[in-house]
Amino acid sequence: MSSTQQQNDRVLIFDTTLRDGEQAPGCSMTLKEKLEVGRQLARLGVDVIEAGFPISSVGDFESVRTIAEVVGNLEFHGRTPIIAGLARAKDIDIKRAADAVKPARHPRIHTFLATSPIHREKKLRMSREQVIETAVNAVKLARSFVDDVEFSLEDAGRTEWDYMAQVVAAVIDAGAGTVNIPDTVGYCQPEQYGAQIKYLFDNVPQVKSAIISVHCHDDLGLAVANSLIAVKHGARQVECTVNGLGERAGNASLEEIVMNLKTRRDYFGCESRVQTEQIYPTSRLVSQVTGQRVQSNKAIVGANAFAHESGIHQDGMLKDKLTYEIMTPESVGWKGEGMVMGKHSGRHAFSKRLEELGFEMQGENLEKAFVKFKELADKKKEVFDDDLCVICDEILFKESAGAWELTYAAVNTGTSILPTATVKMTYRDEEFVDAAMGDGPVDAVYHAIDRITGAPLKVHEYHLEAVTEGQDALGRVTVSVSRQDAKEGVKVRGRATSTDVILASARAYVNALNALDRTEKSQSSNDRVKIGSTP
Ligand code: KIV
Ligand code: ZN
Repeated sequence: MSSTQQQNDRVLIFDTTLRDGEQAPGCSMTLKEKLEVGRQLARLGVDVIEAGFPISSVGDFESVRTIAEVVGNLEFHGRTPIIAGLARAKDIDIKRAADAVKPARHPRIHTFLATSPIHREKKLRMSREQVIETAVNAVKLARSFVDDVEFSLEDAGRTEWDYMAQVVAAVIDAGAGTVNIPDTVGYCQPEQYGAQIKYLFDNVPQVKSAIISVHCHDDLGLAVANSLIAVKHGARQVECTVNGLGERAGNASLEEIVMNLKTRRDYFGCESRVQTEQIYPTSRLVSQVTGQRVQSNKAIVGANAFAHESGIHQDGMLKDKLTYEIMTPESVGWKGEGMVMGKHSGRHAFSKRLEELGFEMQGENLEKAFVKFKELADKKKEVFDDDLCVICDEILFKESAGAWELTYAAVNTGTSILPTATVKMTYRDEEFVDAAMGDGPVDAVYHAIDRITGAPLKVHEYHLEAVTEGQDALGRVTVSVSRQDAKEGVKVRGRATSTDVILASARAYVNALNALDRTEKSQSSNDRVKIGSTP
């Protein structure tokens, strides 16, 4: 029997949107946002949710612990997801991860150490033997806390195969139930990576008693192809993220992995347990909370993924859908542009549409959303799904009102005058007014806010986009800021939406200001640990 045949026909989906995905620039999420994404991942039916890297900060520890408590005890489709916490192969990390995942029904510690020559020699300054010893000790310590331990050979894609096999055998003997072979830098080519996975099945007898996992980065655009060839050769866990978010060019995209397995079950002979109808609502939610728009031609979840423009295609589709369609939009939860809603739409149709979009809005929240919808419908002729998502986003994820609040912002600008802004704000019921000039109207508003707070911010990114099409579309502003005087300070994101883009810009800046206050309080910046740091 070949190694592939020995495996069962289920591929476990390990979602790392909340850990590797969140590491992507500008993708950090608040606790509320992580919790909502976590719940949706459980509804989607992923097998493992990697909730974060608990040692990296107090905030990350709290998020993992809360997700373990809440999502780690939810049941969807008759099962509860495993909640994993990441830890370097260090005692302090492993103990912290153990504490964080403890409340989950199925806790997992995911520990890792680099194995490639360049990482061993340049980063870790460890010999081959020292790496194996450290890895084995880490797995044993993790096993003293939980039954479910995963070990990752960081940069396995560039590790000597015979040495990789030795590490894999040693960590399985030490008690790892899952061993991950990451292509950390996105360097591998499909044929070569597939052969590397096969090599393990052919040379390490212990792999029969463990699950081989893959975790591929997309630096050369091959993350999905590499993950799938690994499945073909026996890997039975794929680590991936919603919309392919992740470090640098991102990770393998969950929706592409899952739909390849489902659409081509004939080829792979195995499938995941993901509820594919939840794919689209999940993609939308993640895009909404991270502020990362999905490109329109993205496979599976892009706006054009099921659009047939050419006459020949449309003609074929009318005769038989299978002429040009290999999977149905409904199978991934795409319900078209949906009903366009307007000011005459009723409460019932409104709440039904929110439900279809994956938002659980009840009681007071539903009432607030309906009021906001009516206000928007008065300003805009048609309200689209994306507008509804913005409304829900603002209600569900609004952090407890920050200390700073914007009460008024007005700008005087034109072709022959210097843009000047007047801003009124309150701080714990005390009112402040100031005015400032700037290079443009937004710059003027930001300067006026800085004068009021007395703690100027540095803007790293400013992004304005229309939420939907048309002149009356809502404008969404995302701004990423840090303190101007901090050398390597905390960076946070603020987001706001309005039909008036200057107002949206001002609110986004104030939201970022409040987020910065909160973050600075909850974590001192010097306790942040980065993944690549030396154990
Ligand atoms: O890319 C990588 O190697 C990782 C590990 C921590 C699994 O993210
Ligand atoms: Zn990674």
